[in-house]
Amino acid sequence: MEGTQYQQRLSSRKVTPTRALSDIAADAAAGLLSRPRFMPPKYFYDARGSRLFDAICDTPEYYPTRTEDALLEQHARVILEQTRPAHIIEFGSGTSRKTRRLLGACDSGLSYWPFDVCEAMLHETGHRLVQEYDWLDVNVLVGDYLAGLDDLPQLDGACLYLFLGGTIGNFNPRQARDFLVELRSLMKPGDSLLLGADRLKDSAVLHAAYNDADGITAEFNLNLLRVLNRELDADFEPRHFRHRALFDGDRQRIEMYLESRRRQSVRIGALDACLELDAGERILTEISRKFSRRGLESLLRETGFAVRAHYQPDNGWYSLLLAGPDGLS
Ligand SMILES: C[S@@+](CC[C@H](N)C(=O)[O-])C[C@H]1O[C@@H](n2cnc3c(N)ncnc32)[C@H](O)[C@@H]1O
Repeated sequence: MEGTQYQQRLSSRKVTPTRALSDIAADAAAGLLSRPRFMPPKYFYDARGSRLFDAICDTPEYYPTRTEDALLEQHARVILEQTRPAHIIEFGSGTSRKTRRLLGACDSGLSYWPFDVCEAMLHETGHRLVQEYDWLDVNVLVGDYLAGLDDLPQLDGACLYLFLGGTIGNFNPRQARDFLVELRSLMKPGDSLLLGADRLKDSAVLHAAYNDADGITAEFNLNLLRVLNRELDADFEPRHFRHRALFDGDRQRIEMYLESRRRQSVRIGALDACLELDAGERILTEISRKFSRRGLESLLRETGFAVRAHYQPDNGWYSLLLAGPDGLS
């Protein structure tokens, strides 16, 4: 009986891509078989990768999660008073661990729409949330937020869109602008965006955050090779690669690579191809851009948003921006 009650408050649907979307085989063919070598970061996040990311968030070195969580705890009430959402829609929700700061500050009458590429994590989290909050409806959205947002549900009532965790930093500048412009075009008067983004700081702090002493970030990075082995019938040997995360000061971003420990040849069955790697050769697996306070506000303004509040800790390590669609009231 109780189980049925939970299920009534939990739904799931796939978000149809509204732009051409390449699959993992096409992305591997384009990204691995020519130079420079790279793979899109979304492929980290199978069920194991999502759990590893959650473990990274608990490492002492990874300050972004703790910092953003503290900002949310401190400002949740004011954010909810200002936005009065009937719906919270979250891009790249993962375990929704910090979203609970907002849910915990609500009394009732809200639906939550977590949108993520990792279906396993969405379902696990959805089940937990309907049990934790007996007034909450959870509508899981499975899909790729870079593949177009036109198939998102048109919702009555104020929507609060969340994009947390500094994930906007995983986009290159053009992707970030296009995504924000597209999101802005969906928004109605009264809707809001809460954006969490990581800030520029001492490169030693950044370096430590992406090279934790327990090697969890390394394991997360190497997980990509397991995904490629499983999905593309490849024979990557994770032991033959090392995790590298370096801060590029000119481009103001952490670059995460898998570096070949030796000269090697890797078969990718689904592509009927062999990847020849030299010793020391790198595959770029993620960028994580770091922003200035001003840069973030300009990015939002230039993509059609009015910044209503900009929260940051005393050390200025992280930004949480509350914005609305400019020109709509
Ligand atoms: C850096 S994690 C952040 C998770 C969570 N928001 C947080 O703050 O801890 C990025 C999240 O975005 C999801 N993700 C990555 N690329 C995606 C894509 N193209 N479309 C949808 N979700 C994606 C991942 O599965 C993961 O849950």
